[in-house]
Amino acid sequence: MTQTPEYDLDAVRREIPLLRTHIPMNACSQAPQSDRTRRAAEAYLDSWASDGMDWDRWMEEVEAARTEFAALVGGEPNDVAVATSVSQATASVASGLDYTGRRFEVVVSGAEFPTVSHVWRAQERFGAEVVAAPTSAGTVPLDAYEAAITEKTLVVSAALGYYQTGAIQDVGAIAELAHDRGALLFVDAYQALGTRPFDAPSSGADFVASGNLKFLMGIPGIAFVWVRPGIADALHPPVTGWFGRREPFAFDAGRLDWADGARRLDLGTPPVMEAYVARAGMAWPRALGLDAVERWNRALSEHLADRAHELGLAILEPSDPAARAPTTAFACGDSHGVEERLRRRGIIASARGPALRLAPHFYNTLDDVDQAVEALAEELEEGSTAA
Ligand SMILES: Cc1ncc(COP(=O)(O)O)c(C=O)c1O
Repeated sequence: MTQTPEYDLDAVRREIPLLRTHIPMNACSQAPQSDRTRRAAEAYLDSWASDGMDWDRWMEEVEAARTEFAALVGGEPNDVAVATSVSQATASVASGLDYTGRRFEVVVSGAEFPTVSHVWRAQERFGAEVVAAPTSAGTVPLDAYEAAITEKTLVVSAALGYYQTGAIQDVGAIAELAHDRGALLFVDAYQALGTRPFDAPSSGADFVASGNLKFLMGIPGIAFVWVRPGIADALHPPVTGWFGRREPFAFDAGRLDWADGARRLDLGTPPVMEAYVARAGMAWPRALGLDAVERWNRALSEHLADRAHELGLAILEPSDPAARAPTTAFACGDSHGVEERLRRRGIIASARGPALRLAPHFYNTLDDVDQAVEALAEELEEGSTAA
């Protein structure tokens, strides 16, 4: 089994102050701060303090973040909109679709983070009908999509990584089912981007949305959505703003035109400080090599699964690390209580409903994994004897 990553793990770890005191295993929720993301935030604060304002420079930084996201997903900057959250990015896309024709159904997977499902359900006021593709064994089986997609389907909404179990969905296969029946495919890639290579143009997806604060090493307040070239031009979302215009700085209140490509999904003044941080964070796994990051994450996940097995801990399906992002979930009744007790031991895990998730990333060691799983086993053991 792989014992070390292909990059300099010690150098990576030196950049993350939190590692001196904690074992962060919560990249599925919030990545740790790094020297490079801190420096990026400070660059904005310094500019604000010393220049008062520098919109040209700040807008350049927003463009640089857009360009970095585009590179991460193999696309072009004009095919990427800058949003403030995945909820807003989804709402911008969803509000741009027309549900009054012969296609009005939206297939929403059971693996959706609730916010995405909420946005699609909110479109029912405008004629949409939501059809569920349920999960089974911690993932959404292809036959559930096959049964749900019909000639009436306008768009299929899928998650690349399931937030609760880490299950990776086969986007290419879902795209084939959707496209065969004339439907579009929206993909929420938040739980997987940064952990593996993902090429949006060849993935089959028509929209790929993600926030920035999980495996992409950034902060809240900024998100992105890639839109397949050619598709954006048919979108005229009522969720809009002056940055969605061809010339925002023409200040023409009487004209509602639409910027080319995905830029028409931009809204108001963009999240500037977040853009500084987002670019610095996202660029890191790409600079290390997403293939190398994926291999190390796989080694960490396999080690985690082996250790959990030895300690008698049951992993929520899918249990095979190859079928998952680096997230491994365990069923435990009081997941928030367990998260709290682990935190007191210096281990940061992430509870979601009844599941406790351990999500290592490229900066973790095999020893981090051992310590986290052993502490979890002890906490669960103690919980069961106390009960
Ligand atoms: C897969 C996924 N999508 C969306 C969200 C939420 O996105 P936002 O808060 O940016 O709307 C989360 C978690 O925060 C998530 O895990």
